Amino acid sequence: MSRPAHPGQTERQPARHPWESALNSHETTSPPWWQHAVIYQIYPRSFADSDSDGIGDLPGITARLDHLVELGADAVWLSPFYPSPQADAGYDVADYRDVDPLFGRLADADRLFAEARARGLRIIVDLVPNHTSSAHPWFAAALASGPGDNVRQRYIFRDGRGPAGDEPPNGWQSVFGGPAWSRVPEPDGRPGQWYLHLFDSGQPDLNWDHPEVRAEFVDILRYWLDRGVDGFRVDVAHGLVKQADLADWHPPQEPLSGEGTEGPRPPMWDQDGVHKIYQDWRRVLDGYPGDRILVAEAWVEPVERIAAYIRPDEMHQAFNFEYLQAAWTAPAQYAVVTRSLAATDAVGAPTTWVLSNHDVIRHATRLALPIGAPRPRGIGIDDPQPDAALGLRRARAATLLMFSLPGSAYLYQGEELGLPEHTTLPDEARQDPTWHRSGHTERGRDGCRVPIPWAADAPSYGFGPSDASWLPQPPLWAEYALDRQRGVAGSTYEMYRTALRLRRELGLGTGSLYWLESPDAVLSFRNGELRVLTNFGADPVALPDGAELVHASDALTADGRIPTDVTVWLRG
Ligand code: GLC
Ligand code: MG
Repeated sequence: MSRPAHPGQTERQPARHPWESALNSHETTSPPWWQHAVIYQIYPRSFADSDSDGIGDLPGITARLDHLVELGADAVWLSPFYPSPQADAGYDVADYRDVDPLFGRLADADRLFAEARARGLRIIVDLVPNHTSSAHPWFAAALASGPGDNVRQRYIFRDGRGPAGDEPPNGWQSVFGGPAWSRVPEPDGRPGQWYLHLFDSGQPDLNWDHPEVRAEFVDILRYWLDRGVDGFRVDVAHGLVKQADLADWHPPQEPLSGEGTEGPRPPMWDQDGVHKIYQDWRRVLDGYPGDRILVAEAWVEPVERIAAYIRPDEMHQAFNFEYLQAAWTAPAQYAVVTRSLAATDAVGAPTTWVLSNHDVIRHATRLALPIGAPRPRGIGIDDPQPDAALGLRRARAATLLMFSLPGSAYLYQGEELGLPEHTTLPDEARQDPTWHRSGHTERGRDGCRVPIPWAADAPSYGFGPSDASWLPQPPLWAEYALDRQRGVAGSTYEMYRTALRLRRELGLGTGSLYWLESPDAVLSFRNGELRVLTNFGADPVALPDGAELVHASDALTADGRIPTDVTVWLRG
């Protein structure tokens, strides 16, 4: 039976990808790396610790680069390692041109970049332009000056409402909970103006109408481009420009959920003025040799609005959060893949795919939550505990499906081990500002940030030389450790490795997707010589006649059929 809700299921080719025509017309040129790259996100504080302080660091990463080569990644994205009070795990930057002593020294960054380059790995660094840390010298200068002063106008300061000015200038809420405004004392000690912080109070929003702000970030881009980085992941790319009147806004504004952005556009997100900034940055990058890239972190829906950030004269890629949030059903996955390809094809950009990152519940846990339910912001000890086996099974199927799609894919450290979320983290260990700013109603993101296990029987599971770990690791980390999976047939790690090797050999990243006729609960398509099937249904389904099994996310049934929640790659 074919799925009537999905018209055109048979051998339908979406719009041509830009690189197809490039390949046709210049047979010797290969598409730029970023159109098909597999990019591995490193969250430095939780990847590998070299100095026993319980916090991962740059030398720790350098020592583990061979892991990424073995896995088959093309590039690394490093979350922030800059000097910071760590009010939001480094997304509060006090100095954009140095390394926090927690993570090492500038020379360690240079060495990391060089060692990565020597292994053919590209490096993308995180750029945080929406806000600085409140410990940034600019913010200190803003406080020391008076209302209206030029240096204060690099941020968004306003007088309070009410006769005494003791009410915030408007009702905007922080993404992490509570008001998005905090009041400061003026230099004479009297209660003074308020400043905007869409995130933590330690993250004052910059005023992107100020020419010094624009000039400063061009200079920061050049600083890291000159040090050899291949690109930037642009944090909160949809937030830099605010509606000029700072019009009040009461509905919840949740850029980390993607909700609340349908209908009228919130005055703090996705304003048309942001695009000029990225056009300017694109010209800066284009002035450098090599293919340097900009990647937008923009929690904007629908995917067509995301496409505006990756028009030919702006960024190169944007994260596809609609894909990350799609329900685990055949119709939902069909719809999101189709829409994603169409939206990015329309602007000539590659599609990206992502299932996990440092802001969301790891997909090995998320996919076990009730299908279609809203994505919670953190899971705690007194919440219903998701079924780990079900989650892992679906995560492996989802990942194998993702790797077969044309475009570029993002991985988050630890997912290659099948790591689940830490869902029973003691509340007193939590460090995400979401937990306290939400008045202990949202657990927040610590559960996906726990230091990862490398060796089952070593202190801190091989994260570092000692037992120290900035967030406690759960006891069941041993079974996920890399050394328990490496070389073990059927392990999640080996499933990833094989998939990435085949993806490269078969050119899946630069391929094209053709949907195939399939039963309702099955997704089926072709990419080049590969045929892909995912079974979302309750019953096993037979392999198509004559098909040869190339790879599978889990074992087939004893009689050779595809079980529930399994993806297979087939030839023929
Ligand atoms: C982005 C980051 C997130 C951070 C926020 C504020 O969404 O991914 O971790 O908290 O921006 O910088
Ligand atoms: Mg350390």
